[in-house]
Amino acid sequence: MPMGIFKTVVVSLFIVVFFYVSHQLTRFADLSFGMVMLVNVFLILIFGIVLAQPLYFWSNNRLEHKPWHDSFFRTAHLLMAYINFLISLVIIRDLAAFLMEYLTPNYNADVFYGKEALVIMLVAPLLLIFLGTLVVRVGPQVKNMPLRFKNLPTGLEDLRILHITDLHISSSLPVSFVAKLVDRVNKLKPDLIVYTGDILDSQAIRHLPEFALLKKMESRLGQFYVPGNHEYYWDVDQGLAAFRSVGFKVLINETAHLNIQNSLLQIAGIPDPAARMFKKEEPDFDKVGLDLKPDGFKVLLSHQPSLAQTACTKGFDLQLSGHTHGGQFFPWNLLIGFFQKYPKGLYRIQDMQLYVNQGTGYWGPSLRLGTYCELTVITLKKA
Ligand SMILES: [Fe+2]
Repeated sequence: MPMGIFKTVVVSLFIVVFFYVSHQLTRFADLSFGMVMLVNVFLILIFGIVLAQPLYFWSNNRLEHKPWHDSFFRTAHLLMAYINFLISLVIIRDLAAFLMEYLTPNYNADVFYGKEALVIMLVAPLLLIFLGTLVVRVGPQVKNMPLRFKNLPTGLEDLRILHITDLHISSSLPVSFVAKLVDRVNKLKPDLIVYTGDILDSQAIRHLPEFALLKKMESRLGQFYVPGNHEYYWDVDQGLAAFRSVGFKVLINETAHLNIQNSLLQIAGIPDPAARMFKKEEPDFDKVGLDLKPDGFKVLLSHQPSLAQTACTKGFDLQLSGHTHGGQFFPWNLLIGFFQKYPKGLYRIQDMQLYVNQGTGYWGPSLRLGTYCELTVITLKKA
């Protein structure tokens, strides 16, 4: 879809949703004119601030921090979460009322649409935001994933790969979250660590404390990284330099060859297709293929799981991805399957296995609901 049409569709949808929410909240609540105006002014304000966000992004090709950014985006993200839950509740209420009307004789709509219901509708999103914030406050949770492969070389049996993705280092992510992550990683003592993109979602220069913490990550065989789409939205060259400076091996259409107990492990990496928009090196499986040896075990790091169809034709045994956040919060955790072919977890695609981590951090509002911050420990096993 051309970008101009996409933007028009997004803005139009936003306006339609505003009128739907405004109508459903005020039409049947028997409010005074003043109260209707008050509710509408509140809705116009929050919808306006949230819509200002994409409009701002679309007007700036490469993002740079301005002094007002942090407080504006933090507020806009929080309001975005509020609107998300408000819309969900309005839709759920309408569906419930629709069903009641057909199933219950002498149905009284006031139960769903009275003044008290309006107050509940406006307050409930705040409670959901609070719950979601608690989930994030717990920090990254360890998920153990033993994966079995018929062709696993003997020397790689029980190799432990720690998979981190979508951390989204930015002003929304507290430094203490990264500190908690590093602490948990080092206690797990992994053999190697892989990062599948969207680790940085800001200008690297603004996050030196986070990079100092990443430098403390310990693994026996090293750390391997590919950029996601969000790294490209900022100064990607500065970002990649920062990752290299803390000892990460950046894989842009490259393969690292590791000899582990006389067995060959090949870790290939491709950049996110967003590279194309910024005239940077795009995913190039042919170039990766030049590096790849026919023997040994082959792992592909790709931010987007959707590239798995191509990866499996190139002879990879395992692809590790992120990007989807598992939908991050309700109701998207339930709807993500409509937008992503591989939303989260393990998939078998012909002879290849694909694992999609639901994200170690979070994007936008500091909350998750129906998902959690995932730190995956993949243990390779012989089938
Ligand atoms: Fe992400």
